[in-house]
Amino acid sequence: MDHFDYVDGAMQVEQVPMAAIADAVGTPVYVYSTATLTRHVGVFRDALGSLHNPLIAFAVKANPNAAVLATLAKLGLGADVVSGGELLRAIAAGIPADRIVFSGVGKTAEEMRLALDHGIFQFNLESEPEAEMLSQVALSMGKRAPVAYRINPDVDAGTHAKISTGKSENKFGIPYARALESYAAARDLPGLDVQGVAVHIGSQLTDLAPLEAAFTKVGALIAALRDAGHDIRTADLGGGLGVPYNPALPEPPSPAAYGDMVCRVTQDWPVRLMFEPGRVIVGNAGALLSRVVRVKQGAKAPFVIVDAAMNDLLRPSLYDAWHDIRAVTPAGQRAAANVVGPVCETGDTFAMGRDMDVVAAGDLVAFMTAGAYGATMAGTYNSRPLTPEVLVSGDKWAVVRARPPIEALIAGDSIPDWLAD
Ligand code: LLP
Repeated sequence: MDHFDYVDGAMQVEQVPMAAIADAVGTPVYVYSTATLTRHVGVFRDALGSLHNPLIAFAVKANPNAAVLATLAKLGLGADVVSGGELLRAIAAGIPADRIVFSGVGKTAEEMRLALDHGIFQFNLESEPEAEMLSQVALSMGKRAPVAYRINPDVDAGTHAKISTGKSENKFGIPYARALESYAAARDLPGLDVQGVAVHIGSQLTDLAPLEAAFTKVGALIAALRDAGHDIRTADLGGGLGVPYNPALPEPPSPAAYGDMVCRVTQDWPVRLMFEPGRVIVGNAGALLSRVVRVKQGAKAPFVIVDAAMNDLLRPSLYDAWHDIRAVTPAGQRAAANVVGPVCETGDTFAMGRDMDVVAAGDLVAFMTAGAYGATMAGTYNSRPLTPEVLVSGDKWAVVRARPPIEALIAGDSIPDWLAD
C-alpha cells in the first residue's frame, strides 16, 4: 500500500499534487512519501512482533538519501551498509553505530578501520582472507571486531540472475559445506569476536520457500557451531522480500507471511535475529515523476518520449524490470505505447507495447515503485545531471537533493596543463 492516490482526477502524494512538485522542481524528479515509509516500517516490525528485540537494519543501498535515512532513523531502524560511504551516510543521518552491520565482499582495510572507529554492531565477513585482514586491522587498533560469517547456502532464490546471491557459483559468502572449518579458523584470530551467522540469498523474492530453505540451513549451522563451542548470539537473515510492481501479477508474500515463516523456523534459535530489508521498506514509497517530451509514431505503437531516461531509472534496462507507468492526470483513455527516454541507446526503454493511459507532449507520468534502487543507481550518462529528490510529509514537501546545474558536471573534470593554452 502506498500514499500516491488520485484526488479529483490528478495524482497526489499524500496531500501534495504531483504537478505542483513538477512545476516547482522540474522533471525528472524522484518523489518519496513519508507516510508510506512509516507504514512499511510498521508493517515489517509488526510482522516480526513475536520476536525478542530484533535488529531491523535498513539496506542503505536501496535508498541512501539523507532525508530517507533520517526518517528511518527516527523510526528506530538500524542500517546495513556495504561501503565506507554508506556507513558515513547512515551515521550522519542519525543511525546509531550499534545498529549498523557492514556487509559486502570487498571491504578494504580503510573501511574496516572506519567501521571499527565508529564501533558498529557487526561485520558480516564473506571470506577467510577478509577475516584475517579484519583481525589484523582490529588488533592494530587495540580492538576486537564483532563478526558473523555470511553463509552461501547454495539455494536458488528464483529471482533475476543479476540479483541472486545465494547459489554456490555466486561471489557471496563462504561455502556452507566449509563453514565449520571457516569458523574454527576465525576463532583463532585474536582480533575477532565471532558472534553470529548471516545469510542473504537475493532480492525481489516472490516465494518464501527458498528463504525458508536457506534459514533452515542457518538453523542447523547455528546448532553445529554451538556444539563446537562457538558462542553464536546473532543470526542475520538478510533482506530480499519482494514488492508488487505489476498489479496484474500475483502479489509477493506479505511481510506478515514472511514473519510467520521466520518465527516458525527460528523458534528454537538461542540468538538475536537481525534483518536487512531494503526494497520492502522504500520500494512503494517512491515514484519517478517525468514529463512527456513528445510522442512519435512507431511501427506498432507510438513512442512516448519522456524526459527521464535509463540514467535516472536503470532497473528496466538492467533487469528488464517492470514499473507501472501512470499519467498524473489521466484523460480516461488507454492504448498501447512504447515508453522511452532520450538517451542514445535502444536499452533506454521503459516499456514496449504497454497498455497505459494515453498521454501527449507536456503531460506528466509517474513511474511507480521507484523508491528502491532508483535514484541510488542513477548516473550522469549522456551528461544528464543526477536526478533530484523530494520528500513529502502530509501537506509539506522539501527538495532533499537538488538538481545539480550542468555547470557542476562540467566543472568536475579538469583539463591538464598541456592542453590548456
Ligand atoms: N542485504 C544484503 C547483503 C544485500 O546485498 C541486499 C541487496 C539487501 C540486504 C537488501 O535486499 P532487499 O531487501 O532490498 O531485496 N539493484 C537491484 C537490487 C540489488 C540488491 C542488492 N542487495 C534491483 O534494482 O532490483
